[in-house]
This record gives sequence, C-alpha cells and structure tokens, in this order.
Amino acid sequence: MKSKITPTNQQRELRDDDFIVSKTDLKGRITYCNRIFMEIAGYEESELLGIQHNIIRHPDMPRAVFNMLWETLKGGQEFFGYVKNLCKDGSHYWVFANVTPSYNHKAEVVGYHSVRRRPRPEALQIITPIYQEMLAAEKKAGAVQAIPASSAILKTKIAEFSKDYEHFILEI
Ligand SMILES: Cc1cc2nc3c(=O)[nH]c(=O)nc-3n(C[C@H](O)[C@H](O)[C@H](O)COP(=O)(O)O)c2cc1C
Repeated sequence: MKSKITPTNQQRELRDDDFIVSKTDLKGRITYCNRIFMEIAGYEESELLGIQHNIIRHPDMPRAVFNMLWETLKGGQEFFGYVKNLCKDGSHYWVFANVTPSYNHKAEVVGYHSVRRRPRPEALQIITPIYQEMLAAEKKAGAVQAIPASSAILKTKIAEFSKDYEHFILEI
C-alpha cells in the first residue's frame, strides 16, 4: 500500500540514545517494531504489524536506494544506509540504518531485522544533495530507466569519496 500522506517538511530529531528497531517477514511486512519506532513515526502497533514497511517510505527517497537494500539482503549481506522516513502526520525523520537477514537454526533466511540511529549531521549534508540528484534523475529517466540512471549517479559520487558503497556509507 502506497502512502497517501502529504509531507509537511517538518523534521523530527531522534535523541542520541534512541534506537529504532523493526523486523519484517521475507516480503517486507512488519512483524515487530519497538516503542521508539511507534513514538517517532506516530503509529500504534496495530497499524504497523502485518503492513508493508513502505508505510513510512518518504517520496524524497530515491528508488535506487531501496533497490540496493533488497539486492544486498537477497545476496545474504547486511545493508547500511541513510533513510528519510515519513511519519503518520507528514513530518519526517532521518536515520542511519543497518538492515540484516535473520536466520533460523537451518541457516535459512526467515526475515529481516533493522536497527537505526540518529545520523551524523555531517553525513546528512553529504547524502541529502546526492539523494536529490538521484531522485531528479529517476523522475527524468522514467520508470524503466529510473534505477540504472540513479545508480549511475550514486556510483560517480561514491568514487569522489571512497572505493565502494559500503566504505563510503560507513566513512561519511
Ligand atoms: C527490515 C527492513 C526494514 C526496512 N525499513 C525501511 C524504512 O525504515 N523506511 C523505508 O522507507 N523502507 C524500509 N524498508 C524497505 C521497504 O520494504 C520498501 O522496499 C521501501 O519502503 C520502498 O518501497 P516501494 O518499493 O514500495 O517504493 C525496509 C525493509 C526491510 C526488509
């Protein structure tokens, strides 16, 4: 379900010791969220459980970032990234997220798990204009070419800072 919420440009700040936690099934439906998640995003637990995680997707986020997130998880790796999320009232909050596959005792992936913290302002100063450029490229390229167009921009930007995405995102 896509969000019908209109963004307000109002930003919410996480406190230094806030950790936002959620878990999903293999399809990205929320199976667990902690109290801080509900407090910041402005939802009750009953509004989140069983619902696709894109309920908090912000329209300013480039599609290529989520594409990379899912590709990384499906490759069995953990993902790190800066994400702008949409609250129920239209405000937003930025996080630095770590998303990992969850395994059962047979080493099969049974879902995914994410922990997020307050991002460093210096990192957001780097990420925000990159995402803006990626989003503009996605809109210009149209649905089919959006992800390659925007991924190419990210790749060029990463090369200015570091050797690959993971080094870039952990170093900025
Ligand atoms: C464990 C986990 C946590 C996620 N957390 C977020 C999140 O905080 N915000 C977000 O927009 N998408 C998050 N996603 C990605 C969403 O599932 C989805 O891919 C994204 O919102 C893009 O939605 P769309 O493809 O419908 O545009 C998460 C996915 C997983 C597996």
